[in-house]
Amino acid sequence: MSPEVLKRVILALDTPDLGQAQAWVQHYSAQVHAFKIGGALVLRYGLGIVETLRHDGAERIFLDLKFHDIPHVVQLAVRTAGEQGVWMLTLHTSGGEAMMRSAVEAVADLPNRPLLMGVTVLTSLGAEALQTIGIPRTPRAQVLRMARQAHQCGLDGVIASPLEIRLLRRHFPPPFLIVTPGIRPAQSDPGDQKRTATPEQALRAGADYLVMGRALLGQREGLG
Ligand code: C5P
Repeated sequence: MSPEVLKRVILALDTPDLGQAQAWVQHYSAQVHAFKIGGALVLRYGLGIVETLRHDGAERIFLDLKFHDIPHVVQLAVRTAGEQGVWMLTLHTSGGEAMMRSAVEAVADLPNRPLLMGVTVLTSLGAEALQTIGIPRTPRAQVLRMARQAHQCGLDGVIASPLEIRLLRRHFPPPFLIVTPGIRPAQSDPGDQKRTATPEQALRAGADYLVMGRALLGQREGLG
């Protein structure tokens, strides 16, 4: 992958092992834009891991805990993450408008507030799974509906699969952010990802950042 494309990559540190995460940060910090951490690392080591990884060279950390709770509880969580200096974090748009507005308010006065990104429809949910949970729409229609709410509530952007980037970009021009997982370089093994795109395709379609894990790090090193 070219250095220009790597600069748009958020590398997913999907490992429960701090040593492994630190090694990846040290190796990739000069090349990629940011690093994503989730439940595996945060539950084991606490939110202090943000500071630890920053010392290893991770200037920007994306905290992907997908908050979804009553507005007051999400407000407290988002504030705490903001005070810890995370660069970007996720919350479920299905938590509702009051919850999203609470999150926006929670960090509005922080000097370097985190970017708030809405999860619209989990990429693992297809049309059938949506019907099962009572949503009578295609994933695309539901993604657009939830993105509109995220935009109205003042979130900074949404997470979207490669299949929805163009649709979202048509409705929401920059600076609304689109972050896209499901990226596989050309000729690589798609693994368990079904709706994939190459990095170049996703950027051309209008994505701002690409979340990549196994395709960059290899399948063996502590990754499912
Ligand atoms: O599959 P890969 O290792 O590239 O996944 C990197 C990240 O992308 C994961 O941490 C996950 O959060 C996200 N992802 C996703 N939807 C998928 C697969 C992965 O959001 N279908």
